[in-house]
Amino acid sequence: MNIRFTPEQEMMQKMVKQFAEQQIAPFVKEMETNETFPREIIRKMSELGLMGIPIPEKYGGSGMDFTSYIIAIHQLSKVSATVGVILSVHTSVGTNPILYFGTEEQKKKFVPKLAEGTFLGAFGLTEPHAGSDAAALKTTAVRHGDHYILNGTKVFITNGGEADTYIVFAVTEPGKGAKGISAFIVEKEAEGFQVGKKEKKMGLHGSNTTELIFDQAKIPIANLLGQEGDGFKIAMANLDFGRIGIAAQSLGIAEAALEAAAAYAKERKQFGKPIEKQQAIAFKLADMATNIEAAKLLTYRAAHLKDNGKTCSQEASMAKLFASQTAMKTAIEAVQIFGGYGYTKDYAVERYFRDAKVCEIYEGTSEIQRMVISKQLLS
Ligand code: CAA
Repeated sequence: MNIRFTPEQEMMQKMVKQFAEQQIAPFVKEMETNETFPREIIRKMSELGLMGIPIPEKYGGSGMDFTSYIIAIHQLSKVSATVGVILSVHTSVGTNPILYFGTEEQKKKFVPKLAEGTFLGAFGLTEPHAGSDAAALKTTAVRHGDHYILNGTKVFITNGGEADTYIVFAVTEPGKGAKGISAFIVEKEAEGFQVGKKEKKMGLHGSNTTELIFDQAKIPIANLLGQEGDGFKIAMANLDFGRIGIAAQSLGIAEAALEAAAAYAKERKQFGKPIEKQQAIAFKLADMATNIEAAKLLTYRAAHLKDNGKTCSQEASMAKLFASQTAMKTAIEAVQIFGGYGYTKDYAVERYFRDAKVCEIYEGTSEIQRMVISKQLLS
């Protein structure tokens, strides 16, 4: 595997880094303090083609490879993990399922709008009683003439209330477990569909996380994705790619935390010298850097496999598991290096600390990643 970036990938890295530092950084405080959804930033990202990086030009995207998309999530998340997750969910699990499993008509109708950023995408799998056990869904979809009628509630939906389309999973054949689940493209104006409670979260304050409520919701049969019963596989296949995005988001948080901690350690003096001269601090920084390097290799390796059409379920889970744990550990150590200052809102490390935690939870907890890895290892 070649970890060196191509000239196009290097350009993407430079462009997104600059965009994040110039356009997103000044807005971080607003998102943090007032939980403001970054609409204007998304508009600017659309202008730059960032809302459809790995989507073919034929469907309105930038036609670049998956690695370029991962580079973008990585660089965005270094400045704002909120913007990172909005783009990751929009692309990996909000748009790609239609591109990979949709009919030509569905692709033409939805993908260009999503890829160009006119539409924002979201993914509705999780339910109050079906989180890690994703096949235990209770939301039902019953066919009625030219519509399906959906009933049920989804929770923890990223981009909820802001998205224009939701990839929603519901049971069409009760008693058949994973094989009885189907996927639907739900448009925000669908009759009987509404957005419920907005969560107050520990971190990612600019990202909307809401319930979705289906009360006799009418979804046209034209919006069934794949065949009846394909839903669980559609969810799992796209989560494989989504998990590489969360690994990249974790990398961004970890790198930001390390850079902040290293800069602070050079500047902060105790016992008559900068604290970087204390081995306890220097060794912490060494461990943080080593873990980040390993996480980077796992993440870009998984992206490389995906770009080469190889299965990467296990590698995606390994990358997500290790990178999210690295983000958390790095943020914890960064707060420790900052001492009391790190516990205040005056320094970004407390935000990294809060933002890192969810990377170990969403798109499959660390425990679920270990299930995926061990199942493949032992099969
Ligand atoms: N690709 C394609 N198909 C897959 C697959 C994959 N990666 N993984 C499983 N499948 C298929 C299996 O082959 C099987 O089909 P067959 O019976 O035909 O072989 C079927 O799906 C059922 O598979 P399992 O028996 O392995 O299913 P399971 O019930 O044991 O569950 C699990 C497996 C990995 C634990 C799964 O439930 C899981 O990933 N849970 C976590 C859910 C999750 O990640 N939720 C995240 C929500 S989205 C989110 O967080 C987005 C956000 O907002 C940021």
